[in-house]
Amino acid sequence: MTVQELEQFIILDELNSTIDRLLSSKRSASLSPLRILEAGCGSLSHLHLQEDDHITGIDISQKQLDRNPHLSERILGDIQIYDFPPRSFDLIVCFWVLEHVSNPSAALYKFIPALKDDGILVIGVPNVMSVKGLITKFTPHWLHVWIYRYVFNYKLAGIDDNAPFHTTMRLAIAPDAILKFAKENSCVVTYFSTFEDYRQEELRQKLKLTRQVWTVLKGIVQGLTLGKIKADSTSYTVVLEKKVA
Ligand SMILES: C[S@@+](CC[C@H](N)C(=O)[O-])C[C@H]1O[C@@H](n2cnc3c(N)ncnc32)[C@H](O)[C@@H]1O
Repeated sequence: MTVQELEQFIILDELNSTIDRLLSSKRSASLSPLRILEAGCGSLSHLHLQEDDHITGIDISQKQLDRNPHLSERILGDIQIYDFPPRSFDLIVCFWVLEHVSNPSAALYKFIPALKDDGILVIGVPNVMSVKGLITKFTPHWLHVWIYRYVFNYKLAGIDDNAPFHTTMRLAIAPDAILKFAKENSCVVTYFSTFEDYRQEELRQKLKLTRQVWTVLKGIVQGLTLGKIKADSTSYTVVLEKKVA
């Protein structure tokens, strides 16, 4: 395992501990299974969910839904327009999805009413305000497929509803925008963490960028953009808790 993969493992572990802590009181207070929505579920989950949790998955790809073995219920639908029953989920997880939709705010505004009053929303997204995020935003999809296939050696890239998916990378998913959304929608930010994703590290290794060169490049990006754009914080995860007064 590389340092970057280890860091992601630690971050996911840290995230899982935060969610376990938040859910444990709900688990002990509730006689029925927790209701969880995996929004844009794809074929896997990054969270440690329990056997008896009721997990609803929604995805626009029937193939992805069919490949996901963890779901109690499958919805073929678009998270930007789907009307979920109000106050129905203890936890909504939206991992690596908002960067693919044309209107991420619309999806967020669908999630909040679908959460129970003390529900939790977990988001994982690339950081559009990073060098990688901006390059992804302004380059065509065919190039992303080419990079996955020939640089990362992922033969199924772009075939049969496999990654990479079309990317929009709207500014509405920038960390500042999500934190503002939380504030405006009575949500408390319980956890926030940025990290460098392992594919960027893999690319740095392939390009043979030494630690010293990378440190200088990070400093140049930081200086030229007055700290607004990052070279290493390519992704982030955030946990929001809905607080109804
Ligand atoms: C990169 S995958 C992430 C899957 C999974 N959440 C994970 O973390 O591995 C993105 C998923 O979002 C789904 N997706 C993209 N746009 C969507 C939309 N508007 N509504 C629902 N799902 C969508 C894709 O079909 C794909 O399965």
